[in-house]
Amino acid sequence: MTDKKNAAPQRFLTGITTTGTPHLGNYVGSIRPSVAASTGAGAESFYFLADYHALIKCDEPARIQQSTLEIAASWLAAGLDPERVTFYRQSDIPEIPELTWLLTCVTAKGVLNRAHAYKASVDKNSAAGNDPDADVSAGLFMYPVLMGADILMFKAHQVPVGRDQIQHIEMARDMAQRFNHLYGEHFVLPQALIEESVALLPGLDGRKMSKSYDNTIPLFTPRDQLKKLIAGIVTDSRAPGEAKDTEGSALFQIYQAFASEQETAALRQAFADGIAWGDAKQTLFERIDREVAPMRARYQELMQDPAKIEAVLLAGAEKARRLATPFMRELRHAVGLRPLAAAVAPAAKSKTARTGLPVFKQYRESDGKFHFKLLDAQGGLLLQSDGFDSPREAGKAIAQLQAEGGAALASLRPKLQPVQGVSDQAVTAALQLLGGNPA
Ligand code: TRP
Repeated sequence: MTDKKNAAPQRFLTGITTTGTPHLGNYVGSIRPSVAASTGAGAESFYFLADYHALIKCDEPARIQQSTLEIAASWLAAGLDPERVTFYRQSDIPEIPELTWLLTCVTAKGVLNRAHAYKASVDKNSAAGNDPDADVSAGLFMYPVLMGADILMFKAHQVPVGRDQIQHIEMARDMAQRFNHLYGEHFVLPQALIEESVALLPGLDGRKMSKSYDNTIPLFTPRDQLKKLIAGIVTDSRAPGEAKDTEGSALFQIYQAFASEQETAALRQAFADGIAWGDAKQTLFERIDREVAPMRARYQELMQDPAKIEAVLLAGAEKARRLATPFMRELRHAVGLRPLAAAVAPAAKSKTARTGLPVFKQYRESDGKFHFKLLDAQGGLLLQSDGFDSPREAGKAIAQLQAEGGAALASLRPKLQPVQGVSDQAVTAALQLLGGNPA
């Protein structure tokens, strides 16, 4: 599709595994660009705390909980607006493990054998002369399928990730393709979005800043601690007055990730002029603290109020499940996990019904009222409502029909218009296809 006007909005989705405390590298590489992107128009963003994934790496319950809290607080403190994006915790969406199983059944085991993380463990074991699968959990092996479910559930087009995750996105594409081939077009094929311009931040020792190298600067460490850590960044032994190299200087690279072009140019000049390392470190400390201090204050406030964060995440989960619940219903139907009573429904016998499902449509009329209708898989009208004063009331009636099936018809009758040639039985059968209870 080249017609931009009609193109559906692009959906971005990314997950953060909840095993650690966010550091400056996470901030520069992921939090800051994601928050910036989420405020842009025309994009729909999904950010979630991948706590099911965390269980693969971590068996300390307290650490999982603490990390979930810290990461959620960090994203909110950095300016993520939960009203504009969908911000949720993976384990609040039961449809995700449910979808994981459907995807497990269309994923070749051989493909998972080749996943980098699993293969690295196997290679390490083999090199050490151990059983290839020693200490490898089935969770590690299944990691890419769970990740596929995260992505495919919300029909994400773009998945901003680090290079190490590209293979996982490719696997998610394969799962989507295979499922679509078998059961009809249900999934969007996702793409990895690699931000070339995002700096890989060096850590205290000059290697990539990473928890596994133990060289990180925690994003919201207290001011005096930040200063102390920055004082520990490796430098060479050039004395004050001697020109310093910016190339290969961890200090300079970290500065660059926070500073404007002018500020960077000024520090480059100072390096050439022989700035003392102590002064360069002070400059770096002040520059980072300037950006981080207001967020740190918000972070500390949020950390005092875990109940507030919990409420934000639960509201996010509700928003996410408004998409996940009906989509999962569609997918269950597609693979044949269907209510048996509906097998006799006329719609189920027709060919198009193999992949199609009845749908509710909500809309607003020119009188300002909110209406809905129920259409069968072929688009035929089954139910037509009168006008409701708010979308919420219309939604409530739909929810009642979905939950109670045909049994809801009697009490809703005053708000429904008669539809020529459609029996209550046909409506009941259609509602059963949507998972409603039999009348
Ligand atoms: N595997 C990702 C990482 O470790 C985290 C993650 C889980 C994720 N599910 C995802 C990222 C879905 C993007 C999309 O970085």
